[in-house]
Amino acid sequence: MKKTKALYEGKAKILWETDSPDYMVQEFKNDATAFDGTKHEVIAGKGVLNNRISSHLFGLLKDKGVRTHFIEKISDNEMVVERLEMLRVEVVVRNVAAGSICRRLGIEALKRFDPPIVEFYLKDDDLHDPIITQDHIRIMELATQEQVDQMRSDALTINTVMRGFLEQRDMVLVDYKLEFGLKGDELVLGDEISPDTCRFHDAKTGEIMDKDRFRQDMGGFIEAYTEVLERVSS
Ligand SMILES: Nc1ncnc2c1ncn2[C@@H]1O[C@H](COP(=O)(O)OP(=O)(O)OP(=O)(O)O)[C@@H](O)[C@H]1O
Ligand SMILES: [Mg+2]
Repeated sequence: MKKTKALYEGKAKILWETDSPDYMVQEFKNDATAFDGTKHEVIAGKGVLNNRISSHLFGLLKDKGVRTHFIEKISDNEMVVERLEMLRVEVVVRNVAAGSICRRLGIEALKRFDPPIVEFYLKDDDLHDPIITQDHIRIMELATQEQVDQMRSDALTINTVMRGFLEQRDMVLVDYKLEFGLKGDELVLGDEISPDTCRFHDAKTGEIMDKDRFRQDMGGFIEAYTEVLERVSS
């Protein structure tokens, strides 16, 4: 399979068209961004770490029967994925309070949610990815009710699988963001699963092992991402 041209360059990744219409190459960049791109830095080694972590976690989900776009890791910072028609909806699952839910609702950080919370956001940088309800999704025709129900149930299945896996490695899955796309009319998990799109805390020390280290200028970014890779690949 050969890369032909860059189809889309986002803040953290480049999607390359290939000589096969069904497959793309997803390249992970070293760019770290936050707050809708207003905070930006290039961190050497970040792309390789997120590609390897995502490959491990997609592999885990595939083994557990979750339908994902992941085909194979082909280089340090590239993976082959199935080409999807992405839905303009981001699905967020929260097991523990952190980030925007604390700001938006004044909920105390680290409060546990059992059962977990599922939220939907409009994928639109200009509008700052606003939170949306299922009625908003319906009137904007972003997805059918059936697809919304499927995204919700898949997101909760992914939560059960990943929480169990990470707890065995002394990691708390605080929250994470998923993106889904369509292959024909089949719903498929796309994008990435990494410390850029998830919050991971050490179960014993509470130490932050995700992009919050960049958001809050805490330092130790590459060390934390390297620790995540070591644990998920063990
Ligand atoms: N299998 C796939 N097929 C087609 N597009 C995909 C697939 N997986 C991910 N994408 C899209 O590729 C882009 C990846 O780039 P990147 O993550 O850098 O995104 P972004 O759009 O800048 O914004 P954000 O960071 O808010 O996701 C995203 O728009 C994502 O929806
Ligand atoms: Mg993205």
